[in-house]
Amino acid sequence: MIRLQNVHKEYAGRPALINVNLHIGLGEFAFLVGPSGAGKSTLMRLLYREETPTRGQVMIGGVNLTKLSPRQVPLLRRRLGIVFQDYKLLPRQTVTDNVAYILRALGVDELDVQRRVTSALCVVNLEDKASAFPDELSGGEQQRVGIARAIVNGPPVLLADEPTGNLDPSTSLEIVQLLERISQRGTTVLISTHDHFIVDSLRRRVISLKNGQIVADVDSGLYEMEAKG
Ligand SMILES: Nc1ncnc2c1ncn2[C@@H]1O[C@H](COP(=O)(O)OP(=O)(O)O)[C@@H](O)[C@H]1O
Ligand SMILES: [Mg+2]
Repeated sequence: MIRLQNVHKEYAGRPALINVNLHIGLGEFAFLVGPSGAGKSTLMRLLYREETPTRGQVMIGGVNLTKLSPRQVPLLRRRLGIVFQDYKLLPRQTVTDNVAYILRALGVDELDVQRRVTSALCVVNLEDKASAFPDELSGGEQQRVGIARAIVNGPPVLLADEPTGNLDPSTSLEIVQLLERISQRGTTVLISTHDHFIVDSLRRRVISLKNGQIVADVDSGLYEMEAKG
């Protein structure tokens, strides 16, 4: 579902990703780990086409992102759910309106919007907060709204860049367990994090970046895994 081939990314001549090769299959769940500056956000931004690689190929669902015209980028984004560290909710809109935003922008029939928003809020267990505003919610609840917004359009791929960066450990664990449940419904999920606790709690695939290179890629892994295999 996600494939990177010989990907290099430089910012003003300085490498941020070096010869990255990676495959994440349909419905897989994986962590992308590494210290600050390792290149996690850069890799994520290549996947949602916020950036393009200096060299190499990035593919999602068979679509080569390096060959997409600017006009085609919104089409890609509709097939991706993106979750951010700082939630990026619209502060003056209710939970329902935040989650409905993309569907309304796409011109989806309002009855269908309501049905799909209710279903997404049900997945993240926030039906009772549908009329609340973001500042009336805890950080964990705000991130659950962010996740509902990301899945409301039924994307095959969900990307989350440090989704628990602003949350306490037990809330962080709830959030990644929620993302794990979403992947069990067939969504490919990639989570970047430098949080050892959540990675070690779930024991799932762990892809480790260090200085822009993949230094380990382990199934049922822990955060600290050196060398390949
Ligand atoms: N927009 C940018 N312009 C210049 N350098 C950048 C930019 N974004 C990231 N970098 C650099 O690329 C490297 C990787 O950064 P990043 O992908 O943000 O790592 P991480 O998310 O793992 O902390 C760092 O050295 C960072 O300073
Ligand atoms: Mg980052």
